[in-house]
Amino acid sequence: CGIVGYVGPQTPSARPVDVVVEGLRRLEYRGYDSAGVALVSPDLDHVTAAKKSGKLVNLVDELEAHPLAASTAAIGHTRWATHGAPNDVNAHPHLSEDGRLALIHNGIVENFALLKEELLAAGVTFLSETDTEVAAHLLARAHDATGDLTEAMRQVAQRLDGTFTLLAVHADSPGTVVGARHDSPLVVGLGDGENFLGSDVAAFIAHTKEALELGQDQIATITPHEVTVMDFDGNPVEPKRFTVDWDAAAAEKGGFGSFMDKEIHDQPQAVGDTLLGRTDLQGDLVLDDLRIDEAVLRTVDKIVVIACGTAAYAGHVAKYAIEHWCRIPVEVELAHEFRYRDPVVNEKTLVVAITQSGETMDTLMAVRHAREQGAKVISIVNTHGSTIPRESDAVLYTHAGPEIAVASTKAFLSQITAAYLLGLYLAQLRGNKFPDEIAEIYEALRAMPAKIQEVIDRGGRVREIARWMADTSSVLFLGRHVGFPVAMEGALKLKELAYIHAEGFAAGELKHGPIALIEPGQPVFVVVPSPRGRDSLHSKVISNIQEIRARGARTLVIAEDGDDAVLPFADEVFWVPQCPTLLSPLLTVVPLQIFACELATARGLDVDQPRNLAKSVTVE
Ligand code: G6P
Repeated sequence: CGIVGYVGPQTPSARPVDVVVEGLRRLEYRGYDSAGVALVSPDLDHVTAAKKSGKLVNLVDELEAHPLAASTAAIGHTRWATHGAPNDVNAHPHLSEDGRLALIHNGIVENFALLKEELLAAGVTFLSETDTEVAAHLLARAHDATGDLTEAMRQVAQRLDGTFTLLAVHADSPGTVVGARHDSPLVVGLGDGENFLGSDVAAFIAHTKEALELGQDQIATITPHEVTVMDFDGNPVEPKRFTVDWDAAAAEKGGFGSFMDKEIHDQPQAVGDTLLGRTDLQGDLVLDDLRIDEAVLRTVDKIVVIACGTAAYAGHVAKYAIEHWCRIPVEVELAHEFRYRDPVVNEKTLVVAITQSGETMDTLMAVRHAREQGAKVISIVNTHGSTIPRESDAVLYTHAGPEIAVASTKAFLSQITAAYLLGLYLAQLRGNKFPDEIAEIYEALRAMPAKIQEVIDRGGRVREIARWMADTSSVLFLGRHVGFPVAMEGALKLKELAYIHAEGFAAGELKHGPIALIEPGQPVFVVVPSPRGRDSLHSKVISNIQEIRARGARTLVIAEDGDDAVLPFADEVFWVPQCPTLLSPLLTVVPLQIFACELATARGLDVDQPRNLAKSVTVE
């Protein structure tokens, strides 16, 4: 879910409700099952609120049809449904029975059934099926008892189990928004005579780039001229201030039809920016925020990469590169599987957590679990001010800029890039490779942004094919070596964006089962490794293409410039520039992203906000 809070002046050009709705628009990628706002004003003795199921546009239409009164503080919410169906009633905000308090929530209140029983026994009437409404009623009662919204929030926060960010307003304090966070994101934006709260900085970058990081179990109270932060025990806290280096324009479509299309085009820059400034004066690679003794990194005997979704495929690419360069065994595991299987992890294990948002709950829980076992954690993260970097021993930030489309593209390429940097850094530190060799790979990496641009520029043909294939019901993807995670990512993109059955396989596995799926006309993408790399690898994939072609498959081949060996067996070839095999995913995945985006667009689907998904999944 996405949440926004605002306190500031009501001027004709900037009404608090508009600031909040604008913030929600920027956070809508976090969930779009429903949206709502609540406002308070010195002129009213109750909260005014509006909420609508479906995307934010429904709320905007509602607010146009029935404008709310002027206000001095506002909170807003865009929901990814957990408890209760995504309808108007279950949408946030939830109000107290007297209509004087409103609350929004991100997360899950695990003990809500117990608390609900207690409230029902006390005669409270519930309107919705949500866990959040429990918190609203508890907060209203605590406010009645204390007369102070911050103190009431502190008391309620202590009673809730689970994960939550809560924001509340009360008619008695029309210039105040109070927020609490426990295992769920919340940052403060600092304005001039106005202040903000948001799930992430995208909520307020149009207004300010100055922000405060909040820690776990903290409460922030914002008024137009003041921000105070305390922990759940009421002790004052001095939060860490930071400046957001994203530019507000980066969170706009900039002339493209969709954020997805724009973000595909942003990729050369995302990779280039991720590579910037990574060497010190001696030419050695450096990490951003290293709180691990280098001596410890030299003793690491195993690396475990944990991530979810697309980020996990970046982890699979990392495995090939890091094992090759560093000769350290690398395991890649989905964070939710890692967490619950009693993994063998100890002080000599380095855990690498990859996450765009820095908030994915499955990944956060895996990070905590790994650290409890004594492992050091390096995170590769795109979003500053998020939770996972705070809880890691070192961070490597990707500089992809804000990624708004729910399905990941530019974050994926920059995660792979950062993983290469980490591999090279470790190789250097552990002396596994000669400096010249590292410098050579680093040089090859620096040439990648221009090559990615070339693949994008050549995208016309893949778009054309995607439009022809708009009615396809199944597409398979094959790859080997680093082409294998690319195949899986290609399939994931198509599932996410176009709702088409798609599967990625290791090409060598074909004969062990998946080949049974091949029937005449079945489209199959094949990612072919460079013929300049290990020769046997290339020829094995060529044989795989022959095997499926012989059974009638329609072969859509991604191959390196000059690789004429693919021509006799390919119905269509999408060429990519030459590069070292380990770096090739940065190029070969791009036609697959373009294919999924174009095909989904041709089917009339919303590529930025696919059904049922959310970009940042902050529940387990
Ligand atoms: C969600 C998104 C995916 C994303 C995954 C991991 O499921 O829909 O696009 O890859 O989370 O997100 P993270 O922010 O941890 O990279």
